[in-house]
Amino acid sequence: MSRKVIAGNWKMNKLPNEAIEFISKIEEVAARSDNEVILCVPFTDLFYSLLTAQNTKVKIGAQNMHWEEKGAYTGEVSGKMLKSIGTEYVIIGHSERRQYFAETDETVNKKLKAAFANELKPILCVGETLEQREQGIQEKVITEQVEKALEGLTNEQIQNTYIAYEPIWAIGTGKTATAKDASNAMQSIRKKVEEIAGAEVAQKIILLYGGSVKPDNAKPLLEAPDVDGALIGGASLQVEEFTEIIEYNDK
Ligand code: 13P
Repeated sequence: MSRKVIAGNWKMNKLPNEAIEFISKIEEVAARSDNEVILCVPFTDLFYSLLTAQNTKVKIGAQNMHWEEKGAYTGEVSGKMLKSIGTEYVIIGHSERRQYFAETDETVNKKLKAAFANELKPILCVGETLEQREQGIQEKVITEQVEKALEGLTNEQIQNTYIAYEPIWAIGTGKTATAKDASNAMQSIRKKVEEIAGAEVAQKIILLYGGSVKPDNAKPLLEAPDVDGALIGGASLQVEEFTEIIEYNDK
């Protein structure tokens, strides 16, 4: 795929005024680029971000959601609520949520189903820890995460799930997977998707790499075989850095 997905994950960063300013500044870059530009913002920035991004090519996503529509779940936000204000994407199963907020393969699966029930486009995250990589079991870990996450989804839903491979040891550490590591992981994921949903879905599904993607390493990672895009944390917080990554192929 020559058109890439460039998705930012702001995590717990930026106030609404900062979100508005950021989106206004990258609007033109996104309009010029063939790449799909997505920003996944904190809940408190969603509404302002959606308004600012209206009639632009910048797409807006959330970073988490609950699987129930409504109810006694203090502090949670449902897929239905996200959809009601026009949210298009939602990250599901980010490793920080798995690590710090007790997200499991089972809750990830429920959230994916709820995302589709509310016509949200999910960005599913999978990835191994450093310990698992040192044991050489990364392929087993990520393919199991994929299998459990996609359980019970239709082939069409699977095809419309963006899957981000984010090795935990590469997140926020400055250490990136090599282009070859990223490609290998993507190939394992595609193979697993093929087993579950067939060759056509496996060929069409969009796979992203995440973990210390920066302007100076974006090109080899994005051009690695089987990599369809990137999910970017730290470098999505700076207009200049994010812009350089969106325009990585113009260099
Ligand atoms: P960094 O780009 O800061 O390593 O974060 C990656 C990530 O977790 C994106 O979801």
